[in-house]
Amino acid sequence: MAKIKIEGKHKLSGEICISGAKNSAVALIPAAILCDEIVKISNIPNISDIDSLEEILVYLNTKIERTNDTVTIDSSKIENKEIPEEMSQKLRASYYFMASLLGKFKHVEMYFPGGCTIGERPIDQTLKAYRSLGATVTIEDNRYIVDAKELKGSKIYLDMPSVGATINTILASVKAKGKTIIENAAKEPEIVNVATFLNTMGAKIKGAGTNVITIMGVDYLHKSFHEVIPDRIEAGTYVIIGSLLGENLTINKLIPSHIEALTSKLIEAGVNMTIGDDYITISAADNYKAVDIKTLPYPGFPTDLQQPFIPFLTQCRGISTVEETIYENRFQNIYDTNRMGANIIVKNNRIAKIKGATPLQGKNVTATDLRGGASMLICALIADGTTTIDNIKYILRGYDNICEKLSKVGAKIELI
Ligand code: EPU
Repeated sequence: MAKIKIEGKHKLSGEICISGAKNSAVALIPAAILCDEIVKISNIPNISDIDSLEEILVYLNTKIERTNDTVTIDSSKIENKEIPEEMSQKLRASYYFMASLLGKFKHVEMYFPGGCTIGERPIDQTLKAYRSLGATVTIEDNRYIVDAKELKGSKIYLDMPSVGATINTILASVKAKGKTIIENAAKEPEIVNVATFLNTMGAKIKGAGTNVITIMGVDYLHKSFHEVIPDRIEAGTYVIIGSLLGENLTINKLIPSHIEALTSKLIEAGVNMTIGDDYITISAADNYKAVDIKTLPYPGFPTDLQQPFIPFLTQCRGISTVEETIYENRFQNIYDTNRMGANIIVKNNRIAKIKGATPLQGKNVTATDLRGGASMLICALIADGTTTIDNIKYILRGYDNICEKLSKVGAKIELI
């Protein structure tokens, strides 16, 4: 099994370019099958989650062509088949196909989606939306049969601003009869990216990026070309790395306002950075002070950057508090971080207290999930000696060419 080996403590300079957003691309590709003509999407990241979606598209008899970072999708011969359980289980975003197939065919059969085991991650809000649009939902163990004679616009209040439920509701209602209103919708930039994509095909979606989204159903979606937005979580991960090891390190092709919750905390801790229109340049300082974070839906501090932020906090003087409010099990990286020399106590899987600054030592560690893996990788980059990370399939699900990007700026990192 592949591992990543890192020799720590090397300073990083030069430029890292950010790829397209995983959590946008994994929704845009299933959204594309709603189109009645051919669509092209550019700035697709080279990550294994996209390979998993491509496998599903091929299974559904859709024509997909991938060249460099662009995909062309022709769904004119798509078949509404049940996606096999092992394909659905590979990633969370497989259930966006459920929504698109439902929107297109008014009937879908599918298994519960996969994704990192960072909490329970129920899909009750998505099912509530399907029912509200007029579908019946039959659940057989972990298999779902969703059927509607007709999908009719409706008002749906989400109990929490769920990214997945918001996107699923948009996908299922874009061709429904009449008007759908989503209240307490999620406001993440990825949702705006998906709504804009559908609008370029002729959909009528208003309010994406606010907590009320209105969708007027249309009958036909025409051809379109669209670009994936920069990955704010990848960008944030490299900005954290730059704060620890940068020597004039520039993180390029990002949207700074998308990671303001992170950069404002780094600045509060003492990081000096130059924020441009689409880049951030950072040189690491010797001393940082402890700061507290609490994860929240966008525009709050993103849960996906909580784990990558932990290694930074181990290097801050004083006691930092991290409160995780989105997932029940997102501190699995702490065990190995402490083995490397950190001083972190976790209470009720909700709150972590980090006492710093503590030097870290290279060790053999494990990636327990995607962002937990990124967190271990950052620990390894700042540790004395060599660290080997196993289970790296998680990291490769979400970080495009991470070893190459870091080697290019001076890290001693290799895939073995
Ligand atoms: N929730 C429910 N019921 C629902 C839906 C959500 O209880 O029907 C709960 C979840 O259990 C969770 C919270 O609401 O506690 C938020 O879940 P949300 O639906 O917003 O998350 P998601 O759509 O499953 C996406 C990203 C995650 C990211 C979250 C939050 C994708 C494919 N995944 O997940 O990304 O953490 O939004 O921003 O877009 C990652 O990239 O590492 C990752 C896990």
